[in-house]
Amino acid sequence: MTKPTNPKTFHVKSFGCQMNVYDGERMTELMAAQGLTATDDVSAADLVVLNTCHIRERATEKVYSDIGRLRKHGNDPMIAVAGCVAQAEGVEIARRAKVDIVVGPQAYHNLPDLVAKASRGELGLDTDMPVLSKFGALPARRKVGPTAFLTVQEGCDKFCTYCVVPYTRGAEISRGWDALVDEARALVDAGAKEITLLGQNVNAWSDGERDLGALIRELDRIPGLARIRYTTSHPNDMTDGLIEAHRDVEKLMPFLHLPVQAGNDRILKAMNRSHSRDSYLRILDRVRAVRPDIALSGDFIVGFPGETEAEFADTLNLIEEVAYAQAFSFKYSPRPGTPAADMDGQIAPEVMDERLQRLQAALNRDQAAFNAASVGRTCQVLIERRGKLPGQMLGKSPWLQSIHLITDARIGDLVEVEIVSAGPNSLAAVERMQAAA
Ligand code: SAH
Ligand code: SF4
Ligand code: F3S
Repeated sequence: MTKPTNPKTFHVKSFGCQMNVYDGERMTELMAAQGLTATDDVSAADLVVLNTCHIRERATEKVYSDIGRLRKHGNDPMIAVAGCVAQAEGVEIARRAKVDIVVGPQAYHNLPDLVAKASRGELGLDTDMPVLSKFGALPARRKVGPTAFLTVQEGCDKFCTYCVVPYTRGAEISRGWDALVDEARALVDAGAKEITLLGQNVNAWSDGERDLGALIRELDRIPGLARIRYTTSHPNDMTDGLIEAHRDVEKLMPFLHLPVQAGNDRILKAMNRSHSRDSYLRILDRVRAVRPDIALSGDFIVGFPGETEAEFADTLNLIEEVAYAQAFSFKYSPRPGTPAADMDGQIAPEVMDERLQRLQAALNRDQAAFNAASVGRTCQVLIERRGKLPGQMLGKSPWLQSIHLITDARIGDLVEVEIVSAGPNSLAAVERMQAAA
């Protein structure tokens, strides 16, 4: 335990997925509402919240090196481990490292009580999972930037055999319609132009009658909201209503992140993905039929236990067939307590490295082709921040590409542009009026 303190300043550091970013923002708002001051300088913070990710081994190990660094070089702050490692390892973390608080992703609304407890020199531990009461106990949204996250759904019931999320985030639950519409309105009032709806399986959102497509249609009616996105989706939850929203709702951006993980049916079955290669491809066909310009994204795992060279080749040829605009890819990481960790045929690290390289070469090739094909396109860019050059601003295209341009427009503005060139990481655009001149 650290020296007892009543922290005055705090810093929240989030790792992992966008849901953790959202949770980090909510914890920041919560502690600010308690009178603490947020600081960007970790070394100056009295309280450091590490909002952790457990998805792969390396993510988990990072927590311990971060704690070590804070203890060595910092001002010996109060340390709270939040997020998925906190949920998975619980009190073990306090045995292995010097921390003051361990708080799970469904219990962080209790952070002020835990800080008070830690200030008395006791370990603040809370890994309960009362998901819905968490949201009810959080303060109202503060000022946000032009793009904001809104968690609509949490948890997962899918139990893919490699994955810790069902254990760290708990069962699938959906937040209520009214709370979500209210929070979306509050975000727009606070400055958001674009809202990204979040969930571990965001498209599993339902209030019993209505699906995510219906919620998107409702949010479409909020004046001042210009763009709607959602992530991450599961292939089996791609409802007709959601696909139709891609046809009808102009504010819904033409982008779909739909992880497939692998292109071979035996591997998909061993992963317990509950979709096949073919059923996945058919969903993409249906989405493309209503929204031909949709940019597709995915997640991939190479080296799942037992994956043969021929099975891996099926993932490569699926990539060729789909032509993703962008994607994330990972080496399989055995996670304690998941079924795949005990499967026969664990793949050697050098084989995984080699497969990942080939996979990423294919994905990079497709991403470059998608970006090159965007040159000459006209679209709107939502300005998110300043660039490095004088007068340069950075933003996103509807297809989630990073765009830079010289403009007088300000952060939060939507600018009509023509994309003029494509580099490896971002595209250059010029404002339409300039393009015409
Ligand atoms: N619910 C989402 C993804 C959540 S986790 C979905 O089902 O698609 C984000 C990504 O991390 C997964 O899509 C998967 O590609 C990767 N991932 C999850 N567990 C992993 C593991 N044990 N090893 C390597 N990558 C993993
Ligand atoms: Fe993990 Fe599968 Fe659930 Fe995605 S659907 S969070 S990969 S168990
Ligand atoms: Fe990581 Fe938890 Fe998100 S394990 S990916 S932070 S749901």
